[in-house]
Amino acid sequence: MSSLYRRYIRLLERWPIDETKTGRDLGEHLRDQVKKQFRRGELIQGDRLKCEKNCASLDRLADDYYLKQYPRSKDFTSCGLGPESCKIILHNDNLAEMPMGFFEKWIHRYQRWKEKLIFSNDPVAFSQTSSKTPPHRPVLVSQVLEYLQPEKCRVLIDMTFGAGGHTRKLLEKSESVKVLCLDCDPVAQGYAEALQSEYPDRVVPLRGRFSHLPDLLKAHGYGQNSVDGILFDFGCSSMQFDAAERGFALSKDGPLDMRMDSGAGGGFTAADVLAHAAEEDLHRIFKTYGQEKQSKKIARAIAQTRFSFGPLTRTYELRDLVATTLNEHMRLDKLGRYSHPSTKVFQALRLFVNNELNEINHALLLARSYLKIGGVLVAISFHSLEDTIVKAHITGNSDFNRGELPLKFYDCGAIFDPRSLGQLQKHCWKAINKHVITPGVVELDSNPRCRSAKLRGAIKVS
Ligand SMILES: C[S@@+](CC[C@H](N)C(=O)[O-])C[C@H]1O[C@@H](n2cnc3c(N)ncnc32)[C@H](O)[C@@H]1O
Repeated sequence: MSSLYRRYIRLLERWPIDETKTGRDLGEHLRDQVKKQFRRGELIQGDRLKCEKNCASLDRLADDYYLKQYPRSKDFTSCGLGPESCKIILHNDNLAEMPMGFFEKWIHRYQRWKEKLIFSNDPVAFSQTSSKTPPHRPVLVSQVLEYLQPEKCRVLIDMTFGAGGHTRKLLEKSESVKVLCLDCDPVAQGYAEALQSEYPDRVVPLRGRFSHLPDLLKAHGYGQNSVDGILFDFGCSSMQFDAAERGFALSKDGPLDMRMDSGAGGGFTAADVLAHAAEEDLHRIFKTYGQEKQSKKIARAIAQTRFSFGPLTRTYELRDLVATTLNEHMRLDKLGRYSHPSTKVFQALRLFVNNELNEINHALLLARSYLKIGGVLVAISFHSLEDTIVKAHITGNSDFNRGELPLKFYDCGAIFDPRSLGQLQKHCWKAINKHVITPGVVELDSNPRCRSAKLRGAIKVS
């Protein structure tokens, strides 16, 4: 097999087929091209240059070079190109082709690889398949390891264990580190127990919410100022998004549940909120937690629907109602990506049902009391509401009744002597990175779900 063919195959791995874009999907188009170009046999020497050129074009495509050059529109591929421009970039009559059968063999391998990637909700299967097929792919792993430095730590807390991707990497990096693994999700608990059987003395599963941490740590003999590092990876895990019956994903039909703890702590479901909250409250929920500009219209539509037809109970019902009410089928988000018009409504309900923002605020206060001086906090957030809270804590501005100016400078009329000014400027965190760290192109390619991840790190200094 020629090295160019191998390069093509590697490129193809970066372009999985998007079934929603039949006839105008770049991944599909690439496969057709490769199939045609490599059918006849090995390349002859003279064509090598042209072929190299083709690969360079594909490389540029994969690195979003063309997206930056051309504005994106609805009929264009995910890299910003229409089918015609794809054809021009890929066109090369001089390519000789591989013998018959090569491509078919590769397709078979690709199918097997895809099957392996199908997320499994079964912790036992996960423990057997090891870290190669994690049901949730951890994000920004190298930065987490760099900041937490497990080789120098004795005890770390993974506050959002999920499928244990980050914890596993921490355990692999250092043999002396012990990780306390918190999560409120019973599925995550299963993964934590499976990991504990692999590392019996080094993994301690803790089941509960962030706010239950003091009791859980007390039960295991940990007090304040006793932990070397704390990791947060906020949001939902892939296991939660991918299970239709959990009701988190608008792309899967299921009951509108959205409780991260699957109801273990009681609590109300998203369907309960939609059935019982007053129209005005629904409007406030969508506006505050979803930053949805049309929240009033959506709240009214929900109130009218439940009055006329009964309560909304399924994800598809809510999704379609919002799309019909707003008369939109696609929206562009702040980063210029297409999203469904109900995305923000789903986010708002999830944050409200799980009291997520208050939990995060409380958890950051707990992190401050349980870390040792010199201990490290790492927080990965996925939207601006989460990141604002993390940033406010790290910059010493965590009281939420602030105005335009940071709270510590809020009293504009006050005259400060140098000592009290020093006191005001002093706070307990020292930020490690000035600006948020985001995933690089390679990580984005292999794990598109990490596209909005933002990492902040801080050291407890007082
Ligand atoms: C993005 S996932 C973490 C994935 C994990 N880092 C990994 O690599 O597999 C976030 C996890 O945090 C958990 N979680 C979110 N809010 C929580 C809370 N208030 N208390 C406890 N766990 C929470 C969710 O159940 C979910 O499993």
